[in-house]
Amino acid sequence: MQLTGVETRVLADAAAVAATTAEMVLEAAAAAISARGAFRLVLAGGSTPLAAYRLLAGAEADWAHWHLYHGDERCLPPDAAARNSRAVEDAWLRQVPIPAAQVHAIPAELGADAAAAAYEPVVAAAMPFDLVLLGMGEDGHTASLFPDHEIRPGPLVMPVHDAPKPPPDRVSLTPSALCRARRMLVLVTGAAKQAAVSRWQAGEGLPVARVAVGGNALVLLDAAAAPAAR
Ligand code: 6PG
Repeated sequence: MQLTGVETRVLADAAAVAATTAEMVLEAAAAAISARGAFRLVLAGGSTPLAAYRLLAGAEADWAHWHLYHGDERCLPPDAAARNSRAVEDAWLRQVPIPAAQVHAIPAELGADAAAAAYEPVVAAAMPFDLVLLGMGEDGHTASLFPDHEIRPGPLVMPVHDAPKPPPDRVSLTPSALCRARRMLVLVTGAAKQAAVSRWQAGEGLPVARVAVGGNALVLLDAAAAPAAR
């Protein structure tokens, strides 16, 4: 299947998407560390990437040179189970020795506006990222960039106050930050995402479409999420 302006690969199932994602993250890390002495990775939130994070927990890598950032975060207390940072800790980071100072959580507990302001210089100092991981919501959102929500040009990080996916208050990297990366992987699995993929395929200007086309993206879908061949 084709999505305008981005490379797509349809894999058998979610496990294959997770395995391919973990493999590509490890490859990108080795290349970045060899070339520049560091690997700067933006993590996707939500549940789709967790299987890949669990595979990375068991991998061998030069963890001392990994620097992690988040594509978005929910305005919840740091130890809330629904925090993206907490989900990554539980699935992966507790099992590998990435220096804590190199894991850059978004301080979303400060509230969306203060957290966005605090994270802006962190992102500015890290760009260009080596790899950005993203998911996609059933409405075609990615990170916390939702349809019909204004994205002001300029900022690298933005507050979100009325997200349709709870919680309503979030913080998100903007396309200006997400698209300034050497490579982007968009992970889409499950039948629930098929309608949004069809809308993307039909050329709707969904947030995920705008970000992917700007970001040298490879979209990894499982067969359940891929619309039937027309
Ligand atoms: C979040 C995510 C969000 C997520 C999509 C897909 O905070 O919820 O950043 O953008 O990637 O909503 O979520 P699932 O992977 O859980 O389907």
